[in-house]
Amino acid sequence: MSAQPNMATAPPAKGKPVTLSSLAERKALGEPIAMITAYDYPSAQVAEEAGVDVVLVGDSAAMTVLGYPSTVPVSVDEMLMLAAAVRRGLKTPLLVGDLPFGSYEVSDEQAVATAQRFIKEAGCDAVKLERGGSSVERARAIVAAGIPVMGHVGLTPQTATALGGYRSQGRTAERALEVCQDALALEEAGCFSIVFEAIPSDVTDLIMPRLHVPVIGIGAGPATDGQVLVFHDLLGIYDGHAARFVKRYADVRGQMIDGVHAFAEDVRARRYPEPDHGYTMAPDERERLNDLLKS
Ligand code: KIV
Repeated sequence: MSAQPNMATAPPAKGKPVTLSSLAERKALGEPIAMITAYDYPSAQVAEEAGVDVVLVGDSAAMTVLGYPSTVPVSVDEMLMLAAAVRRGLKTPLLVGDLPFGSYEVSDEQAVATAQRFIKEAGCDAVKLERGGSSVERARAIVAAGIPVMGHVGLTPQTATALGGYRSQGRTAERALEVCQDALALEEAGCFSIVFEAIPSDVTDLIMPRLHVPVIGIGAGPATDGQVLVFHDLLGIYDGHAARFVKRYADVRGQMIDGVHAFAEDVRARRYPEPDHGYTMAPDERERLNDLLKS
């Protein structure tokens, strides 16, 4: 992170697309990278206007916009539809598409084919996959096919059941070492960036000096090169459980409920529509219509 914690560094220049090299440069300069998720055209436009560096079409969409109980059920086709909508609303930030559970683990061929769909059909700049282990070879194969890959270690929600639930990872030295080894292996496989999710800040502090690619944290403390939050969490749109690392910057859900409630009340009290909300007709046309209806 920046050596001057209270000085905000400039957002990316408008119209100048964020690239892998500009992200690496931001790391080298100690300028924090801001990443958020987006799942549709309006949230992409908000990310664009707000000047974030990276937008992830996260498989968190499964829960935040599609209403599934976890990220596991979301399909490639569902993710592609959301990613294509985000692409239409985005010009400047780097666009990363999340490979959903079951779409890349089977073989290198499956991983490359799915990643290619995110690039060709949805217009993503890069893809993200979860875990170390066999995902390292999948990442290597996708990179070899010319597609930039972002890794993701620590709490990996696609395999949360095997990790003992949605809980922080790396709280013992042995598990922290595994997280570290996964991150180093993903970097060695060619990942341009790695997400650290829900690991103790102490673990992040110890791993960071060993990594050369930008690390984006979510519940991994302040030492990473950037931070990511889920759009619906930071804006207060999602009413599900919020992890302890979530900071709410707005209560958009509350505002939406108030707005819709006020509309329904106006309709029931015949306060809406008002004359200004309607269209008018010239009096002679109205007269003629009346005659036509009579005949
Ligand atoms: O799916 C997602 O939103 C993610 C972020 C939390 C990094 O993977």
